Amino acid sequence: MRSGVVVVGSLNMDFVVRTGHLPVAGETVLGHAFRTIPGGKGANQAVSAAKLAAGRMPVKMIGRVGLDAYGDRLKAGLAGAGVDVSAVGASRTQPTGVAFITVDQEGANQIVVAPGANADIQPGDAEAIRRVFRGAGVALFQLETPLEVVAAAMRIAREEGLLTILDPAPACPLPDGFLKDVDIVTPNETEAAALAGVGAEDPLECARRIASLGAGTVILKLGANGCFALSDGEGFHVPGFAVEAVDTTAAGDTFNGALAVALAEGTELREALRFANAAAAISVTREGAQPSVPTRAELDAFLSTHSAL
Ligand code: RIB
Repeated sequence: MRSGVVVVGSLNMDFVVRTGHLPVAGETVLGHAFRTIPGGKGANQAVSAAKLAAGRMPVKMIGRVGLDAYGDRLKAGLAGAGVDVSAVGASRTQPTGVAFITVDQEGANQIVVAPGANADIQPGDAEAIRRVFRGAGVALFQLETPLEVVAAAMRIAREEGLLTILDPAPACPLPDGFLKDVDIVTPNETEAAALAGVGAEDPLECARRIASLGAGTVILKLGANGCFALSDGEGFHVPGFAVEAVDTTAAGDTFNGALAVALAEGTELREALRFANAAAAISVTREGAQPSVPTRAELDAFLSTHSAL
């Protein structure tokens, strides 16, 4: 029987500063204390999946770091959360990826990523990736590693019978046919607009346009408003949870890791989306990327005491 989640993606050390407001172009703002916090969309999703799987299934990460202290710290953090990092390689030429993150008083952020070793995964690594996929149930992808590697890995995941979930983040132009091996695509509002084009403000119309690009199920992540799904031709809204947002960094990643675990456990889609909305809601009440991900016990307690909006 298939079991577990495999994440193909980025690992970054996040350089985080909180400010009163986000700077506009040409503006300098004074910030508060500077912190380095483990992040990267791929690694965040792996930590989310591992903490929420709570040992019930294996979670593996495929990616690349540099031969440096940040890479060591990122791998150690993932392993501590329960992620198998044996397929996280080391680049001989590139440093570990970093992200420069500014967070304002409302918890909104701006992020600039220098990919470093994340850009050093090669399409030729794909066959090694196949071995990691074997026997797993769900594969998670994002767009902080080279598109040709993501495309090749999604095709192999499909061939190996995994459910494929793509977080099309950060938004970027995608080659024709890129979504053909995607079972579930999970854009946020910015990424959905980039995929659907102008004039698709209505969630159903937006999701239909994205589905027409080849993805099976479309999940629009709507932040505090939860998410909207288009699955088997039916569109439905799954409400979010009212919380006090402190930092929205990695909320979308927490959502995707949670969704993968719920689906890998055999949970039906609506309930899996409620689970993912709750995980994301908890994450925005905490600072940073990976430290903000709840444990399974915290999420179960939240769900038993909170109702969706
Ligand atoms: O999604 C949040 C993540 O985006 C951060 O952790 C940062 O590393 C960038 O990858």
